[in-house]
Amino acid sequence: MNRRLEAIAGLVRDGKGLIDVGTDHGYLPASLAAAGYGGRLYAADINEGPLLAARRTAAEAGVSERIRFLLCDGLSLCPAEEIDTIVIAGMGGDLIVKILDEAEWCLDTRYHLILQPMTKAEVLRYWLIYNGFGIQEEILAEDAGRLYQILSARYGVETKLNDAELFLGKRSLSQNPALYARELKVLHERFSHALSAMEGRDGGARAELYREICRQLEELETTA
Ligand SMILES: C[S@@+](CC[C@H](N)C(=O)[O-])C[C@H]1O[C@@H](n2cnc3c(N)ncnc32)[C@H](O)[C@@H]1O
Repeated sequence: MNRRLEAIAGLVRDGKGLIDVGTDHGYLPASLAAAGYGGRLYAADINEGPLLAARRTAAEAGVSERIRFLLCDGLSLCPAEEIDTIVIAGMGGDLIVKILDEAEWCLDTRYHLILQPMTKAEVLRYWLIYNGFGIQEEILAEDAGRLYQILSARYGVETKLNDAELFLGKRSLSQNPALYARELKVLHERFSHALSAMEGRDGGARAELYREICRQLEELETTA
């Protein structure tokens, strides 16, 4: 497994059961089974090819009997009563939101969500906090020169985020202060650059929002 998937696995606690949505090669469930995870394990994917690859990975690891394979869109075939952990990783934040939105049953204190958006993390955080989820912990995993955001969330816990924090999460929840500071700087440069590009033109409400985000990012930088 790569460092990104290892960081995700590190957030999993032993329990009733786990589903890995969009499992692709099925590395996560196979590795959890091999490491002695005690609950039920489900590997789900919308495409047959990835699910075949996941079966192969499980067979090679000698854990085929431990994993059930589901060919389905999102959480549509997930047996809600048999799991307590939902992992959705390696997809766009908007697709993760769509999958969660279509499974209203997951809005329940029973479930622990481990989410790793490839893009649009701000859309995902917005959806989570406005649908009653609290973000408990955030990890930044560096893998092959790229930084990945991993969120651990639970229903019924309140998290307040300002606009800047929607993009990067709360500093106090981040487990990686040095990477957080580095990413904060990158984000600040991105918004400042976009704001300067609007200068001279009437950026209207968008420029106003970007100015406010830059101000919030500066505040986050100085409260390090
Ligand atoms: C880039 S791979 C990510 C694999 C793995 N989760 C990881 O983080 O390394 C995305 C996988 O999600 C699957 N996928 C895309 N949309 C899906 C959906 N709506 N429901 C289930 N799986 C989906 C794709 O078939 C693909 O195997």
